[in-house]
Amino acid sequence: MDDIRGLILAAGQGTRMKSDILKVLHPVMGRPMISLVVDALVSAGISRPGVVVGFQEDRVREVLGDEVEYAVQGEQLGTGHAVMQAAHLLEGYRDVLILYGDVPLVTSQLLGDLVRRHRLGGASATLLTAEVDDPVGLGRVVRKGGELVAIVEESDASPAEAAITEINTAIACFKVDALLDCLPRLEADNAQGEYYLPDVFPMLLEEGLTVETIRAPQAGPVLGINTRSGLAEANGIMRRRILEDIMESGVTVMDPGTTWIDAGVEVGRDTVILPNTILQGDCVVGSNCRIGPNAHILESHLGDDVNLWHSVVEHSRIGNSVTVGPYAHLRPGNDLGNGVKVGNFAELKNTRLGEGCKVPHHSYVGDAEVGSGVNFGAGVVTVNYDGWQKHMTVVDDGAFIGCNSNLLAPVTVGENAFVGAGSTVDSDVPAGALGIGRARMVVKPGWVEAKRGKSSGGRVFGKDEEDGD
Ligand code: UD1
Ligand code: CA
Repeated sequence: MDDIRGLILAAGQGTRMKSDILKVLHPVMGRPMISLVVDALVSAGISRPGVVVGFQEDRVREVLGDEVEYAVQGEQLGTGHAVMQAAHLLEGYRDVLILYGDVPLVTSQLLGDLVRRHRLGGASATLLTAEVDDPVGLGRVVRKGGELVAIVEESDASPAEAAITEINTAIACFKVDALLDCLPRLEADNAQGEYYLPDVFPMLLEEGLTVETIRAPQAGPVLGINTRSGLAEANGIMRRRILEDIMESGVTVMDPGTTWIDAGVEVGRDTVILPNTILQGDCVVGSNCRIGPNAHILESHLGDDVNLWHSVVEHSRIGNSVTVGPYAHLRPGNDLGNGVKVGNFAELKNTRLGEGCKVPHHSYVGDAEVGSGVNFGAGVVTVNYDGWQKHMTVVDDGAFIGCNSNLLAPVTVGENAFVGAGSTVDSDVPAGALGIGRARMVVKPGWVEAKRGKSSGGRVFGKDEEDGD
C-alpha cells in the first residue's frame, strides 16, 4: 500500500499513568506500546509510518529509530493540531490512517480491513467506532437518523450525549486533500481549549463529503491504555494472544496460566514449555526443547533439543542438545557449544564452553575460554577477580579439572592436561601435564588409639582439643 501514510500521534504525556516514563513507551509483553502499533501498521502493509512526537521525543526516537518518520509538536494543543504539525509527512499520499500510540492491542487485520473499507467506500473519512459498557473519558459518536453528525468529547457533552455508549476509537482513514483542507479551520472553542481532530468530521459533512463509520467487532483491541490497570489488562490480553500463536505454530504450553512469553519471541516446533516459565526480551528457542518448569530466560538464543529446567539464563547463546539445570544461573555473555551440560548450582558468566563440556556440580566459571570436551569436577572455581581487575582463564580441549580446584586467572590449562582435585592452580599447566597444587596429606598410623588412651571420657576430641595435634 504505497499511497497511504500511517500517522501515529504520540506527543502527549499521558498523565493518568502517573509515571516518569512516557505512556506510549510503557511495555506490553516486553515491547513498548508504540512499537506494537508500528508493528501492526507494518504488517498491514503500511511501512515507515509518521509519528508526531513532543514529550520525551528523544526517548521515542531512541526506541523507534528510523523505522518511522517524525514530526515534532512543540506544544500539545490538541489532536487536530498534532496532525497539522505532520502535514509535510502527508505530501504525495492519497490517504492517511491516523491512530494513537496507546493502542498496543490493535491488529494488522483490523487496520487492513479499515483501509480496504475506506478505499472501497470512497468516503472522505472512514472512522472506526466501538460499543463500550463504560464510555467515560471517551469521545461519543453522535448520530442523527443513523448517520454520524459529530464526535462530542466527554467534557463538552450534554447529559443525553454523555449517555451514548458508541465511542470514537480515534482510528480513522482520511483522504489527505480533504483533511488538509479542514485542519487550518479547526477552532479550539471547547471545554479543553484544544484543536480536536474529530471536529474535522462535521466540517467534511458540511461540504457535502461523506464520512463512513465502521463498528469494531470488539472494543478491547481498539481502546487506548490510560492507566496502570489498563496496562495490566492489555498485558493479559497480549500474553494470551502470544501463547495462542505459539501453540498454533506447534509448541506445547503445559500451563498457559503461568507462562509468560514476550512479544517477538520465537519458539520452534515440538518444544514443550513447562509451568512457571518466563521468556523475556529478544529470545529464540529452537525445536524439540523442554523448557521449565521454573525457567527464566532473558535475551538469549537456544538451539534445538535443549533441556533447561529450574534455571535462570541471561544474555547467552546455547547450542543444540544442551542440558541446563536444575538450579543453574547463566549470567550474561555465555556461549555454550553443542552437547554441553551445566548442572546443579553452577554459575557461569562471560564464558565460552566448547562442544561437550561438562560443568555438572556447584561451580563458578567466569571469564573463561574453554575448548571442547572439558570436564569441570564438582566445586571448581575460576578465580577471575584479583580485587582490582578481572582476568581470563583458558582451558584447552580435553582437559580435566579435578573437584574443588581453584583456577587463579590469568591462567591456562593446556590440551588434555589434568588438574588434581583440590588444587590451587596458580601457574599454567602445559598440554598433557598433571598440575597438582595442594598440601600433601599426612597419615598418622594409630593416632586415634593413642589419643583415646589419653582422653578421660574415651572421646577423641575434648572441648579444648578440637584443633589439637
Ligand atoms: C481522544 C479523542 C476521543 C477518543 C479518544 C480515544 C480527541 C479530541 N479526542 O481523546 O474522541 O474517544 O481519543 O482514545 O481527539 N496527542 C498529541 N498531541 C496533542 C494531544 C494529544 O500528540 O496535542 C496525542 C496523545 O499523545 C495521545 C493521543 O493524541 O496519544 C490522544 O490524546 P488525548 O488528549 O489523550 O485524547 P483523548 O482524551 O484520549
Ligand atoms: Ca487517550
